[in-house]
Amino acid sequence: MPMCGIVGYVGPRDVSTVVLAGLSRLEYRGYDSAGMAVSGENGIERSREVGKVADLVRMLEANPLKGKQGIGHTRWATHGGVTVENAHPHCNSSSSVVLVHNGIIENYTELRESLLSEGVTFSSQTDTEVAAQLLGKIYSGDPKQALIELYRRITGAFALAVMFADDDDHIYCIRKGSPLIVALGDGETLCASDVPAVLEYTRRIVYMGEGEMACLSREGASFWDSEGNPLDKDVVEVDWDLSMVEKGGYPHFMLKEINEQGAVMRQTLTGRTEGEQVDLSKELSWTADWARSIKRVHLVACGTSFYAASVAERVIGLFTDLDVRVDIASEYRYRSIPIGEDTLAVFVSQSGETLDTLAAERFAKEKGARCLAITNNGLSSIAREVDDVLLLKAGPEIGVAATKTFTGQMAVLYLMALYLAKLRGSLKETDEQRLLREMTSMPYKIEALLENSDTVKLMAEKYSLARDFLFLGRGFSFPIALEGALKLKEISYIHAEAYAAGEMKHGPIALLDRAVPVVVVMPDDELWEKTLSNVQETKARKSPVIAITTVGRESYLKDVEDLLSVPATEPELTPFLTVIPLQMFAYYVALARGTEIDQPRNLAKSVTVE
Ligand code: G6P
Repeated sequence: MPMCGIVGYVGPRDVSTVVLAGLSRLEYRGYDSAGMAVSGENGIERSREVGKVADLVRMLEANPLKGKQGIGHTRWATHGGVTVENAHPHCNSSSSVVLVHNGIIENYTELRESLLSEGVTFSSQTDTEVAAQLLGKIYSGDPKQALIELYRRITGAFALAVMFADDDDHIYCIRKGSPLIVALGDGETLCASDVPAVLEYTRRIVYMGEGEMACLSREGASFWDSEGNPLDKDVVEVDWDLSMVEKGGYPHFMLKEINEQGAVMRQTLTGRTEGEQVDLSKELSWTADWARSIKRVHLVACGTSFYAASVAERVIGLFTDLDVRVDIASEYRYRSIPIGEDTLAVFVSQSGETLDTLAAERFAKEKGARCLAITNNGLSSIAREVDDVLLLKAGPEIGVAATKTFTGQMAVLYLMALYLAKLRGSLKETDEQRLLREMTSMPYKIEALLENSDTVKLMAEKYSLARDFLFLGRGFSFPIALEGALKLKEISYIHAEAYAAGEMKHGPIALLDRAVPVVVVMPDDELWEKTLSNVQETKARKSPVIAITTVGRESYLKDVEDLLSVPATEPELTPFLTVIPLQMFAYYVALARGTEIDQPRNLAKSVTVE
């Protein structure tokens, strides 16, 4: 399975409790169905349920599973619909092997056909069952050899946790493409797709690399490569604690994370600015000679990260004469554009695991570009493959809809743009001082804005029954309009489209009437008046207008239905403020509609399929 969350536990605690708690912490990765398997005195036993982890918990309360060790899975469906048969864990026909999988086994069709011709019968439509059946065929008492052989025979991306019925003391893992960690506790060992699943038990983590395998027991773990050579892996002590992955009194992670944005901004600037000067020399290997030698910058990302990159495209354009472009990661590889040693390629990814972005990075690297990752996970696949990394320092983001990491990404991208311009000698000292001074005070402005949430809430309730929304913005506000529309559709399921405000007259204006609210992002900048004309055009078509503007501009907007003002700032920095009411608006609309805010349907937090 593509996205999905995996957990495995071997140790003295109640296996079911640990696996289920881990799954609920990984639910942001997928939540179509969930399942777990244990092995112990009764051999392998398995429970699977369609729906959320909570549904599985209910089922297990009625019929508990007891064992010495267990593996669990929360699914985001690709191959095969959302049914109990397609839910993980999957077994081979004789149940001698059971496994959970995150990723896609690309050659599963041919493997399935050859297994069918050998008389194997399948009980699901998944690519994962093919791996389980194949492993069952290969296994003849030596787990390590069987895993090496399985690795040789399957292609694609996979993180697997495996148990064998004749061995209830060990869980085995393989990793290629999809993330997998091993966590070392005291007399207990875990594996998981991500750190939050294990934080309750330990902070000692081993990040599995490409083509690596592991054997977990109560005593610890051993590792080897795809040829069977033993590996001596580093143990990393992560500095997250459990409170960072809990809601801390908020009803939803999303609201907590929206409210953390001032702190994220502060954290992001720490150690990167000296007085009113930007200094990234501790983190980047760039030299002035190199910076002067490049001709282009490519910014590549997906989803919300793409909108942060789109803001950065404009910033870099302002302060350098570089040829700068922004691309959606899944498109980047398929265009013929110049990329080479004269290119800085920047990959923006909260998770650092998005497969489209990773594939784009590999493509740019092969072409000779110097690659930089901007991510919240310094140990992620993308971070490990690039030349340089800039971390967001946003702390774990659990809500599927990204909020605080968007702010963190923009902050890092601004610093990166200023630093690059400075190395190239094109940044005026006055601009550097002006912007850094303002960025330093931005957290206070963000926090002041967040205090206005009651106004946004009332407004959101008023519009919560709308079927369609249009979002408009120009310049720096265009990517913010796009992000505002994305947030709204992600969590409230209302159709929302964003357009460059000037483009409205070329099509979307045909959709306008009383029933279509139009959110106009129009802070005080040089494009304000032009956007004001679009407000008039909208009003003339009777659409209610919700304007996001700057304090002091309200008097020009007396005839709009609703108005939200953000504090004044430098024109280049307005995105840090205008995005906040849009995030809150989406949140409160979703709240009014009663949707699942932290886990919107069909979405997943990091998507490890192309
Ligand atoms: C998914 C998430 C989005 C996210 C995008 C890119 O679609 O639901 O919230 O913006 O992936 O993720 P990344 O981890 O690469 O920033």
